[in-house]
Amino acid sequence: MGRLAGKVAVITGGASGIGAACSRLFAQEGAKVVIADIQEPTDPALAGAIKANEASFAFIKTDVMKEEDVAAAIALAESRWGRLDATVACAGVSGQGSDVSLSQDEWDTIMAINARGVFFVHKHAIPAMLKSGGGSITNISSAYGMIGAAGFAAYCASKGAVRLLTKSTAIEHAREGIRCNSIHPGVIETPMLHAIYDGTEDPEATRQLFEAQQPSGRTGRPDDIAWGCVYLASDEAAFVNGAELSIDGGIVAG
Ligand SMILES: NC(=O)c1ccc[n+]([C@@H]2O[C@H](COP(=O)([O-])OP(=O)(O)OC[C@H]3O[C@@H](n4cnc5c(N)ncnc54)[C@H](O)[C@@H]3O)[C@@H](O)[C@H]2O)c1
Repeated sequence: MGRLAGKVAVITGGASGIGAACSRLFAQEGAKVVIADIQEPTDPALAGAIKANEASFAFIKTDVMKEEDVAAAIALAESRWGRLDATVACAGVSGQGSDVSLSQDEWDTIMAINARGVFFVHKHAIPAMLKSGGGSITNISSAYGMIGAAGFAAYCASKGAVRLLTKSTAIEHAREGIRCNSIHPGVIETPMLHAIYDGTEDPEATRQLFEAQQPSGRTGRPDDIAWGCVYLASDEAAFVNGAELSIDGGIVAG
């Protein structure tokens, strides 16, 4: 407890899945949390945490495709709690489709949410963090930001973009006390993954197939990723910058 005491964080995509676990664990560890999401919190555990500790949370409806929305989420952290110490860019969509089947609109939308949305977070969070004496930016990429996958052309491209945007920022702002790292989740049990299961003929068989393919024999849980985000936002990670942290049960090790 208290690993993030006194810190103020903005979490895009913080209403569901991995982002919801981040929102809940950040508050549990003492942070004040702005949940910036296109939808209100849907995750039951997060809803319970908000009810029990309302003073630690603020929600702002945010579409990360829109620069003014992201700017407003950062501004809310500053106006409500006077500073910004950490961001987690978790808002994302999965988006299947190959390089010959994707339409331009599908490509543009996936890139706009998964990659451009992260750029907007950097653009508006860094000036706010500089006023606070530094900060930690954590971006949720994917195992598919490190390895390719058939049928996920735009998704892989967007997550690869996040990986190198992260490293560019890490170098550019290192002397200003800003750290920037990416996390690369494997297969994590969230509404996004369940939608993929549900899109198949036999969701339960698909789930079992996914699990069997995991080196660890199980899929991940949102908290598996969120604890990595807590670490990167904390002072325990003071010398961690430009790193890519795989939390995937071993997928990209093979
Ligand atoms: N679940 C997995 O297996 C997995 C694996 C690797 C990476 N990821 C990444 O983790 C992140 C979180 O995904 P998740 O699995 O928790 O999915 P999720 O669908 O549970 O959560 C995604 C959140 O992003 C929000 N969002 C979507 N579009 C948005 C927009 N335009 N503006 C603001 N918010 C928006 C959604 O409302 C939702 O709350 C994503 O970036 C995803 O690509 C997930």
